[in-house]
Amino acid sequence: MEVIIHDTPQDAASTGARMVARLVREKPHAVLGLATGGTPLPLYRELVRLHREEGLDFSRVTTFNLDEYLGLGPGHPQSYHHFMREHLFDHLNIPAENTHIPDGMTPDVPAFCRDYERRIAEAGGIDLQILGIGSDGHIGFNEPGSSFASRTRIKTLARETLHDNARFFNDDPAKVPHHCITMGIGTIMDARCVLLLAFGSGKAEAIAGMVEGPVTASLPASILQHHPTAKVLIDSPAATALHRADYYRWVYENKPAWQRE
Ligand code: F6R
Repeated sequence: MEVIIHDTPQDAASTGARMVARLVREKPHAVLGLATGGTPLPLYRELVRLHREEGLDFSRVTTFNLDEYLGLGPGHPQSYHHFMREHLFDHLNIPAENTHIPDGMTPDVPAFCRDYERRIAEAGGIDLQILGIGSDGHIGFNEPGSSFASRTRIKTLARETLHDNARFFNDDPAKVPHHCITMGIGTIMDARCVLLLAFGSGKAEAIAGMVEGPVTASLPASILQHHPTAKVLIDSPAATALHRADYYRWVYENKPAWQRE
């Protein structure tokens, strides 16, 4: 696990965007795994800038989103379909048919989830998965206790997550859908590269547990210690509970030139 600490979310987002851009340039048919929420927004803004100003081409890229609320259709302003159009897809040259987001209105959840896994496999698997982290350590919506072997399926959101996400639902946790479809931890771990972003002091404890704590289903993101290429891009406030923060900074400053992104 490589921990990269930047002063600001913008700096971290620029580093993350450079990693995505390099992949897309080297492999125009790249398959990206995408997240929603507040965290990836500066990264998405930077990707849009790279597309507009530097011609970064997404025309052959395929994407799979991590999750969607059950019961919200694609037109709902808080659906992740809406979020992705608003913040990314409407601003890139990615064909709509290349983008995949779980269907929150599917009449048959298990069949949909099996098919989502099949589509990821048919696309060749995910090259780079972008992740945020919940304050309870979830990735995707794999809440504490989720199986490390889990695949795409229905999950019930934890109360903490309902409270965290109430800011998008008039500050009313009761209005946040209680169920979602999410890629499983096994699905996420299959990605060839994983890039987790976290900003702000509210994520500090989860980041410390994920990076330096035991690997435990009680903090699902800790499984990323077992991922061969996981990178963790955080700002200084999110790094405050890390015991080895100085060492991670030292490692990054001393990276050989050929290893830099
Ligand atoms: C979103 C997702 C979640 C979020 C996490 C952090 O697709 O899968 O795991 O990444 O809840 O959310 P924010 O970024 O809003 O703090």
